[in-house]
Amino acid sequence: MVSYKELGFSNTKGMFEVALERKFAVPGYNASNLEQLQGIIIGCGESDSPVIVQITQTSLKYINKSMVRYMGKGCVEMANDLGYNIPIALHLDHGGSFELCKSCIDLGYSSVMFDGSHLEYEENINITKKIVLYAHERDVSVEAELGVIAGIEDHMKASDHYYTNPEQVEDFVNRTGCDSLAIAIGTSHGAYKFKVEKAEDIPDLKFDILQDVRRRLGKFPIVLHGASSVPRKYVDIVNAYGGSLQKSFGVPETQLRKATQYGVCKINIATDSRLVFTAMIRKYFQENIDQFDPRKYLGSARQELIEMIKMKNKEVLGSAGQAGYI
Ligand code: 13P
Ligand code: ZN
Repeated sequence: MVSYKELGFSNTKGMFEVALERKFAVPGYNASNLEQLQGIIIGCGESDSPVIVQITQTSLKYINKSMVRYMGKGCVEMANDLGYNIPIALHLDHGGSFELCKSCIDLGYSSVMFDGSHLEYEENINITKKIVLYAHERDVSVEAELGVIAGIEDHMKASDHYYTNPEQVEDFVNRTGCDSLAIAIGTSHGAYKFKVEKAEDIPDLKFDILQDVRRRLGKFPIVLHGASSVPRKYVDIVNAYGGSLQKSFGVPETQLRKATQYGVCKINIATDSRLVFTAMIRKYFQENIDQFDPRKYLGSARQELIEMIKMKNKEVLGSAGQAGYI
């Protein structure tokens, strides 16, 4: 058992307070390998942005839990080595049970999400509350979810989304004691977020629900999942180099920016990173058929991820340059 404090992580409390005050969103970037972790730390370090490094339960299994602890610690030490003074949280994304959340807290995570969105309301409350009790004794943050976000992320799969009911949020937050709340306002997980033919037909997110939730909760941290924008640039590279991603659309960047002005202070991005990796590796392999050094093809993907993260932090989330305020 180890406290996240010994590993050098921060919980999300201070990050969210400042983000709400200064109207930006802290990025929650998902990772499942070394190069993604390096890309996240360098991208956020170079843009002076706080960051929440997210590892899901299947990535935890894929990497191995001891390896996650030390790779996590490695993120903090790498940031120090490179002279980046940014707060870093290690977060469990879409945790499915009390036992898993507890084991991640014991492993050194500074923040956990319990995703009970598919459960009955009272059951979601009961489990979230139990996790909050365990987490808060250790100064760990807890993210909860109300409403169902469609699509596939990790072990969670939902074919339909159910918008968050704003009438439930105060009761839920008060009774669970959670530190932040993920809500469903029309985003979904994965690369196929909207069933439309062209980008111009993408509907607006439910900003009325977001505003209602915001009005009821006041300055309480709201989280937006399924927030990849599925950049056309990378979809085109995948398709040009032998892949096939048809009719994939993400959340327009303008809408994400707007969400940060209405109290969304954490934005989750996983698909875009996967897309960058796939695009760059496909391209590298076709353009360099005689190469077989993983540092080369993974390195080119890592470099592109750094560029994308810097752009997002600066242009979309507004988190660039904010680390010093936390
Ligand atoms: P995307 O699939 O839009 O990247 O969503 C990421 C996410 O919500 C991770 O929890
Ligand atoms: Zn999610």
